[in-house]
Amino acid sequence: MSKQAQNSRITVPQIRARKGTDKIVCLTAYTARMAELLDVHCDILLVGDSVGMVMHGLPSPVGVTLDMMLLHGKAVMRGSRRALVIVDLPFGSYERGPDHAFRTASKVMRKTGCQAVKVEAAEGVAESISFLVSRGIPVMGHVGLRPQSSNVDGGFKAKGRTAAERELVLAEARAVDAAGAFAILVEGVASDLADEITATVKAPTIGIGASQGCDGQILVTDDLLGLFDWTPKFVRRYADLRSTIDAAASTYAADVRTGSFPAEAELYRLKKS
Ligand code: KIV
Repeated sequence: MSKQAQNSRITVPQIRARKGTDKIVCLTAYTARMAELLDVHCDILLVGDSVGMVMHGLPSPVGVTLDMMLLHGKAVMRGSRRALVIVDLPFGSYERGPDHAFRTASKVMRKTGCQAVKVEAAEGVAESISFLVSRGIPVMGHVGLRPQSSNVDGGFKAKGRTAAERELVLAEARAVDAAGAFAILVEGVASDLADEITATVKAPTIGIGASQGCDGQILVTDDLLGLFDWTPKFVRRYADLRSTIDAAASTYAADVRTGSFPAEAELYRLKKS
């Protein structure tokens, strides 16, 4: 095998081996530039279907298409070199069964070059996970609050408030684990339930709005950078880019309006002549 063909990225087995040891650092990325900036800090970059809400102004991930995931997946692969890149299979692209899931997942792997896909653990999806894994496609499962089901749930609702719901989430996690998922994203569940899942499954758990006890954590990058005018309760804002962008755009606009912006424009004209 040529040197170029060797994979220098973090691998699926390396992530699996982190269960109960070093915490796994994950963030979402949708563009090459952001992937380049995050790559050195993260073990996993997730091209999540949250791209629909974050980048395209959609109300939920339900409107996200396979073409959108391919476009953003390719961009993140171009921008990163080290992190393991996972691409979400969008709503409606895998739920009909193992063949449907394989057709979509293999296309995502081929066209983007990513190393794994993520699927939400709706009923029956475990069978598809096992089909994909046994045919060479690593899968991350997503349990608890599943945004692709937000229309059934009446919004983005935390899961596990009742004993029956706890059992359901635990059963989802067990099924995904038994099917061979290499990691399980646990979203929007009480910390004791997330801890029980982490203690029960063999795969490392990656929490979001779940528990410190998970084997790793993920956040939507734009949330932690403070790009929105509100922040989910479980997110710490590590920056306030909304204010930074507002101040920069306002200074630029004032410079243009007052004519105090000639230096760089002049230099460009001189270079061309
Ligand atoms: O699509 C996404 O970004 C997710 C988040 C929960 C991390 O799955």
